[in-house]
Amino acid sequence: MKNEKMADVLEFPTDDNSISIYIHIPFCERKCSYCAFVSFCLSKIDREKYIQALLEEIESFSTVKRVKTIYLGGGTPSLLTKEEIFSIFRKLREKFDIDENAEITIEVNPNSVEEDKLRAYKEVGINRISVGVQSLSNKTLKSIGRLHTKEEVTEKLKLIKKYFDNISADLIIGLSGEKSVTKYAKELIKLNVKHISSYMLEIHENTKLYFEVRDKKYCPLDEIGVTKSYDKLVKFLKKHGFVQYEVSNFSVDGYQSRHNLNYWSYGEYVGFGVSSHSFLNGKRIANSGMLQGYYKREYKEEKITKKMEIEERIMLGLRCYLGVDISILQKLGYDIQKSESYRKFLKEGEIVEDDGKFYLLPKYYKFADYYILNLLP
Ligand SMILES: C[S@@+](CC[C@H](N)C(=O)[O-])C[C@H]1O[C@@H](n2cnc3c(N)ncnc32)[C@H](O)[C@@H]1O
Ligand code: SF4
Repeated sequence: MKNEKMADVLEFPTDDNSISIYIHIPFCERKCSYCAFVSFCLSKIDREKYIQALLEEIESFSTVKRVKTIYLGGGTPSLLTKEEIFSIFRKLREKFDIDENAEITIEVNPNSVEEDKLRAYKEVGINRISVGVQSLSNKTLKSIGRLHTKEEVTEKLKLIKKYFDNISADLIIGLSGEKSVTKYAKELIKLNVKHISSYMLEIHENTKLYFEVRDKKYCPLDEIGVTKSYDKLVKFLKKHGFVQYEVSNFSVDGYQSRHNLNYWSYGEYVGFGVSSHSFLNGKRIANSGMLQGYYKREYKEEKITKKMEIEERIMLGLRCYLGVDISILQKLGYDIQKSESYRKFLKEGEIVEDDGKFYLLPKYYKFADYYILNLLP
């Protein structure tokens, strides 16, 4: 980027003839109190049946597009046995032309990281590990139902480092009693973590946490506390050489998640598994979020209209360093440069234009929703 204010911004090469793949593994040893992702306790799911359905779903898909990223998310993909990992990748390699430099990520929970599984990940071509850390306080971890301790995170990150260089960690901002998470980020960086995703705690209806908060048994950080904690983290990570490339995502340069960047640059992707989504040929396809529905191959399909595309491009591009392409919006029928709000934000230096795109400056990321709302047609 030429603009000085955007010195942090890097270009992301987009390739129209490639796709990303997401695979959903919906097993967990135990449900964490805050989690609303589609995942089932191991005792409540027939995993053999699920893996079989997953392999069949992959088998039935066909495309000539090259695969540039693969992401195994969950649930807890680190609960997959080596044999299950091998069979999923055997099927993927049979069906898809996977780029030799593809970024291939697996989400792991510290307690299910094992050395022989790490070797199997390497063997199948996985090259990025995303670790669910959430906090490095044992009291906090216990209070949200995590099955690992701080000591185990340290031990497992050291083990992962023996095999992988590209390591990401998730932290949650806003957990009870946690005014700051920078000390955790500091420890994670010492342990070779190159990418941090920091999510603000969301309280989803009908989760255990939702009832605990309602009954005043759990007291999350208030909004001001969350903002302060977020600001501290942003400042800390910047000082330690991390690029903030999206509202919640930070990385050492070159370690940005290419899988996420594909989503945010409006790239195509295919999702396999219960509740997974695909975006292909101008359509969005959502697999059933219920196991029984998934086994019957139930899904919903939606055609993306021009209006939807304009909105999505603005929503995705403003929240990250990829920005929004002005000429694409124009082709879709929206001349944003004529918008009063746009001109005002530009004049006030909150958004910048460069090389046919506009960007929200990272210091305003936390207000991204406000800018998005004002810039939509
Ligand atoms: C697919 S989830 C879980 C990945 C993995 N199973 C784990 O627990 O570590 C990915 C991340 O979303 C975040 N997350 C899940 N539920 C959340 C919530 N209610 N509020 C904020 N972050 C949440 C957590 O940081 C989690 O690591
Ligand atoms: S946060 Fe991760 S381990 Fe916990 S229930 Fe959700 S998917 Fe499972």
